[in-house]
Amino acid sequence: MTSKLYLGTNLKMYKTNRDTAEYISLLSALTGDLDPDRLQLFVIPSFPAIADASRLADHRRIQIGAQNMHWAEAGPFTGEVSPLMLRELSVDIVELGHSERRHVFGETEEMIRLKTDSALRHGFTVLLCVGETAGEKEAGRMDEVLRGQLAAALDGLSPECADRLWIAYEPVWAIGAHGQQAEPGYAGCRFREIRGALLRLWGRRGEEVPLLFGGSVNAENAESYLQLSEVNGLFIGRSAWDAFRFSELIHSLAER
Ligand code: 13P
Repeated sequence: MTSKLYLGTNLKMYKTNRDTAEYISLLSALTGDLDPDRLQLFVIPSFPAIADASRLADHRRIQIGAQNMHWAEAGPFTGEVSPLMLRELSVDIVELGHSERRHVFGETEEMIRLKTDSALRHGFTVLLCVGETAGEKEAGRMDEVLRGQLAAALDGLSPECADRLWIAYEPVWAIGAHGQQAEPGYAGCRFREIRGALLRLWGRRGEEVPLLFGGSVNAENAESYLQLSEVNGLFIGRSAWDAFRFSELIHSLAER
């Protein structure tokens, strides 16, 4: 299993191009002392902010991601963004299957499978997000849901994809929530399920896939998730959007 620490943020639809550029510049300056061989930072801005973010970032220290991608290289798909467009901007990571894409915009497992396959073929790292809803949790179906999401997204991929796949487990009910946090013990069970599914799919190569936790991560609870044996990093929303606060959190976790 990788010993590298992965810490990153999804900016969702919160920062303009100018805000993002300021954020990247500041975060770069504040975290320039940290060893990129031991710590992988990443920021995933909105589409209009990617070009400037990508130009400003030292990609060895801070990788830049896109929040979504269409699977086709070009076509009559109004409002969509293609792998070629992202590659031209030196995007490193494509985030796919985020809960807001699945549940607000109705993305299906089949769309996520096509996007995952295309993103990997075009040379990106895929940050695949999986997680159960509150209803699925209450029905005791969380592990079945996770296995289904993984099987659907990774169907047909070879074990060689393991070195460019990251998985974020984000319980839907804990994302953007106020007061709803996953107990580390509960999250730990889900991570064992995810690792088990990867091992069944890809054998030993399944060990290489970094697993990240997301959903109301903050300075108070971050450490408790990183202590889980299968967890390699954190995927953070609100608590990372102030560069000073995020840098403090990064330093506290990197210097443990
Ligand atoms: P919060 O940390 O704001 O709950 O958001 C997490 C998230 O959606 C990361 O993709």
